[in-house]
Amino acid sequence: MSFDDAISALSKDALKFVKNNSVLGLGSGRAATAFVKELGKYVKEKNMTIRAVPTSLQIKLVAEQGGIHIIGADQIDRIDAVFDGADQIDSQGNLIKGGGGALLRENILISSAKRVIIMADSTKFVKHLNRTVPVEVHPFARSTAKKFIEKLGGKPDLRTIDRGYPFITENGNIIYDCDFGTIMVPKPLSQKIKQIPGVVEVGIFTRKPDVIYKAKGNGKFDILA
Ligand code: A5P
Repeated sequence: MSFDDAISALSKDALKFVKNNSVLGLGSGRAATAFVKELGKYVKEKNMTIRAVPTSLQIKLVAEQGGIHIIGADQIDRIDAVFDGADQIDSQGNLIKGGGGALLRENILISSAKRVIIMADSTKFVKHLNRTVPVEVHPFARSTAKKFIEKLGGKPDLRTIDRGYPFITENGNIIYDCDFGTIMVPKPLSQKIKQIPGVVEVGIFTRKPDVIYKAKGNGKFDILA
C-alpha cells in the first residue's frame, strides 16, 4: 500500500461532492489527475450532466480523455466545487500552490468556488508553511519584481526547465520560486507580494478549503476540515 493507493481511494470518496448539473473546477497535478480519471468514469456510470473548467492544459487533456464536458471559465456564472491538490498545507488550512505553474487559474477558481476540496499526501502537511512560494511575474517585470521580492525578505529563484530554459506559464509569464523561510502569518505576506507591480499571482492561498483529504502511506486517508 502506498500514497498512490490512498490518493486513488480518496479520489473515489470525493466523488460524493459531485452533484448532477454542477459546474466543477479541475485543479492540476497528480492528485487532481487521479480525481479527474475517477470523475470521468463516475459521470458516465451515473449518466450525470456536469461541466468542468480545467486550470491547465495538463488537466484538460486528462478530462478530455475521460469524456468530461469542458467549458471555459468565462462561460459560466458559478463554480460549485473545485477539486485540487496542494504543495503544502499548514495547520490553519493555508496552502502553497503553483508547483506545476497553474496557480493563476487555480486561484481564480478556488477564490470563487462554493466548495473547495483539497487532496494531498501526508508529507505536505506542516504546522507553518515553509517551502518556496511560487510567484508568477510578467516577463517585463523580471528585474523590478525580483528586487521588490528581495525587499520583502524573499530569495527569488527563477524557475527553469531542462537545459536552463525559463519555465513559461500558460499565461506567458515567468515564475520565481521564493524562499521566505517559515511563514508564520501567510495572508499579509501574500497581500504584500501581490501588490508588487508585474506580479500576476502568488502561490499562497488563504481561502480555507471546505474539505481536506490527507493521503497516508498505508493506502488509507483522513478527512480534515
Ligand atoms: C499546480 O500548479 C499545483 O498547484 C498543484 O496542484 C500542486 O503542485 C500539487 O500537485 P501534485 O498533486 O502533483 O503534488
